[in-house]
Amino acid sequence: MPAVVLVGAQWGDEGKGKATDVLGSRVDYVVKFNGGNNAGHTVVIGDEKYALHLLPSGILSPGVTPVIANGVVIDIGVLFGELDALEARGVDTSALLISNAAHIIAPYARTLDNVTERFLGKRKIGTTGRGIGPAYADKINRLGIRMGDLFDESVLRDKIEGSLEQKNHLLVKVYNRRAITVDEVAEELLMYRDRVAPMVTDTSLVLNAALDRGETVLFEGGQATMLDVDHGTYPFVTSSNATAGGACTGSGVGPARIDSVIGVVKAYTTRVGEGPMPTELLDADGERLRDVGHEFGTTTGRPRRCGWYDAVIARYASRVNGLTDFVLTKLDVLTGFEKIPVCVAYDVNGVRYQDLPQDQAAFAAAVPVYEEFEGWTEDISGAREFSDLPDAAQKYVLALEEISGCRISTIGVGPGREENIVRHDLLHARGE
Ligand code: GDP
Ligand code: IMO
Ligand code: MG
Repeated sequence: MPAVVLVGAQWGDEGKGKATDVLGSRVDYVVKFNGGNNAGHTVVIGDEKYALHLLPSGILSPGVTPVIANGVVIDIGVLFGELDALEARGVDTSALLISNAAHIIAPYARTLDNVTERFLGKRKIGTTGRGIGPAYADKINRLGIRMGDLFDESVLRDKIEGSLEQKNHLLVKVYNRRAITVDEVAEELLMYRDRVAPMVTDTSLVLNAALDRGETVLFEGGQATMLDVDHGTYPFVTSSNATAGGACTGSGVGPARIDSVIGVVKAYTTRVGEGPMPTELLDADGERLRDVGHEFGTTTGRPRRCGWYDAVIARYASRVNGLTDFVLTKLDVLTGFEKIPVCVAYDVNGVRYQDLPQDQAAFAAAVPVYEEFEGWTEDISGAREFSDLPDAAQKYVLALEEISGCRISTIGVGPGREENIVRHDLLHARGE
């Protein structure tokens, strides 16, 4: 039974939550390995709609053990808010496990996220304001507070004090904010200690033991390839590794144990926040993608920037993640467009690029080279076999497969759990 990594191939919101949920009934563990409550996954089950942020989407599947692994940053108040909301709707969340090495988003991280953005002015990133960047910065600076620290109050207070010493100078002298006390931070975090205690464990040990027993583990990425701190459009990125390698460092499961890597990719492109996006449409077509695709952020409600499919990015995602399969989502949203352009390369000041330019200025100047495909008008939401799709839709999918770097194994034709065309089983062992 396989270990499968699932990541976003574009700038997020590709439909990772739905893809994870669809696999949920067939896996034993779903592991969130990066990011925090900056993520927003909408999962539709029958008439019910769930918006998940910090919790792995697998929490909605009975029998699955959801895991928040060491690579995640946790806002404990948000964690319990989400758990309580799900419990109120009858979802059993009691199986959740949390790594003792996962870092905590302290209240001052949220403050710093927002003041930093304000001070950046026109250079701002357009973050979700959830404290993600400052929490990861503390982790790398070795000033972070981890879940395990909650259980030794003197260690916790000492760590908060160490972290605040520098931050209070910054908050008071640079940002003109009030100083934060050790007591108020400790009080906020300790409020949750007893409730979280039974969930906190060595999740690397749990996951490796599950793999030893032959169980199936799905690693669910938050954010996406182009938002990865190393491989994305730096500096307009998030602060974690959202690419496939992050599944290993973020969970304590070694790379040789991973069987396959699924990239979730939309049949067009969206982005939330600042930074370049070569295929962005600022016209009626862009508006239409946003309206039909309901492209408004699950976390912040911001309208998502919309544009045509970018195969340069898909190929890049295929390469840096070592993708074995694509899940192509939201094909139904393209229904009714007479012509559907696809970006096959970039023109940067007269030079043609097949691969993503590594230089930030070159990427910002990239002009898409489009190839145009015929559209279709038939409603495709009822298609369950590839042959149910109109000819033009089949040709569009096959063309994307040809230029994007690996096979398209599943096609989404609607938000519902059943609204998929499966061409190859996603839960396959290595090389199958
Ligand atoms: P995630 O962050 O990658 O999990 O994606 P989001 O949940 O933020 O955004 C994807 C949105 O598209 C959600 O509202 C899903 O319900 C919806 N969705 C996913 N797959 C499909 C699909 O194939 N067709 C349509 N129409 N909607 C989809
Ligand atoms: P899911 O998991 C889309 C974007 C923000 C901003 C940048 C940095 O739903 O795909 P951060 O708060 O992480 O420091 O913000 O990253 N961003 C996302 N965009 N989907 C997401 O998650 C995102 N998570 C962060 O808009 O541009
Ligand atoms: Mg999302």
